[in-house]
Amino acid sequence: MRLLICGGAGFIGSNFARQRVNDHGDEVVVLDKLTYAGRPENLADLGAAATLVHGAIEDPAKVAEAIGEGVDAIVNFAAETHVDRSISGPDAFVETNVRGSLVLLEAARTSGVARYVQISTDEVYGSIAEGSFTEESPIVPSSPYSASKAGGDLLVQSYFHTYRLETVICRGSNNYGPYQYPEKLIPLMVLNALHGDKLPVYGDGLNVRNWLFVEDFGRGISHVLAHGAPGEVYNVGGPSESTNIEVVREILAQTGNGESLIDYITDRPGHDRRYSLGSEKVRALGWEAQVGFEDGLKRTIDWYRDNAAWWEPIRSGEFREYYEKHYGRALG
Ligand code: NAD
Ligand code: TYD
Repeated sequence: MRLLICGGAGFIGSNFARQRVNDHGDEVVVLDKLTYAGRPENLADLGAAATLVHGAIEDPAKVAEAIGEGVDAIVNFAAETHVDRSISGPDAFVETNVRGSLVLLEAARTSGVARYVQISTDEVYGSIAEGSFTEESPIVPSSPYSASKAGGDLLVQSYFHTYRLETVICRGSNNYGPYQYPEKLIPLMVLNALHGDKLPVYGDGLNVRNWLFVEDFGRGISHVLAHGAPGEVYNVGGPSESTNIEVVREILAQTGNGESLIDYITDRPGHDRRYSLGSEKVRALGWEAQVGFEDGLKRTIDWYRDNAAWWEPIRSGEFREYYEKHYGRALG
């Protein structure tokens, strides 16, 4: 296939591009704005199989340039993705996650792209105390991030119903693995543990997340790309649920640190207590998670240990300023 992967220089998009090139022999075009979270280095090993177009999904001229003579499908990962940043500055979230999705959908429709895959999140369903969300659960987002993702999803559904564009939506649970920007829980805690910095845990640390190794999410997306029914939503959830404090304790144990590094800090406003995603529908397409949490976490910690050249420029650049402003203390 010739695939347009929007946001393919970020965490999940670059892992997906790697899978498509290495496991499927695809040619990929990546359209990416290269925000603080997007880095061309994430695609360096793909050589000529991946072409990077630097531009925003909300810019129709750049989208047309990326589609070029045509693509078999568009897979849209491009987004502002961090809940904490959406609380301090929601504008960019609406611009990219809502308006950007609209521009992409319109380009897919007018240029006759056969398939459009929107990458979304379990966070659009809000928080669930017991049981798991299904694709029929109501959309009740809590944060500006999840609200903007829900807005993008609703536009996708409207393009299926109104124009019969062949759309599918893939809602993933919390991903972790190589190349994740260290603002998110797992890479933040891993790098702080490796540096002997404090590990900032929000509230009581008992919020629950449903962890999914990034390669498993990529395989789920490929199943939906190949076999998903037009107009449908597919949840792709991880094999296990953990409280944040359990994750932090496991990282401390695997990095040889003691629990004195744990620092309970003021809770995130509107913090969703628990996410849990039922994945029966994507399982019926033949997908199954292959990587258990303990194994995936070990692979992730090993990757960060072995790839200081990847995270050193991040920890000494924009992220350092963000961290100091958000957490009120400097990185060690
Ligand atoms: P990320 O922040 O690592 O990467 C986002 C990428 O999008 C970056 O390369 C960035 O430069 C690019 N981008 C941002 N705004 C853009 C714009 N206007 N135009 C073009 N490119 C732009 O995010 P991620 O964790 O890889 O998430 C990818 C997608 O998966 C997002 O849509 C997110 O909502 C979804 N998702 C993430 C998770 C998770 O746990 N990380 C879970 C489920 C779903
Ligand atoms: P995060 O990685 O931001 O993902 P999301 O909020 O999209 O699920 O956070 C995962 C969980 O970890 C969430 O419950 C918030 C918590 N958390 C902390 O306790 N401390 C932190 O510094 C961060 C970034 C997150």
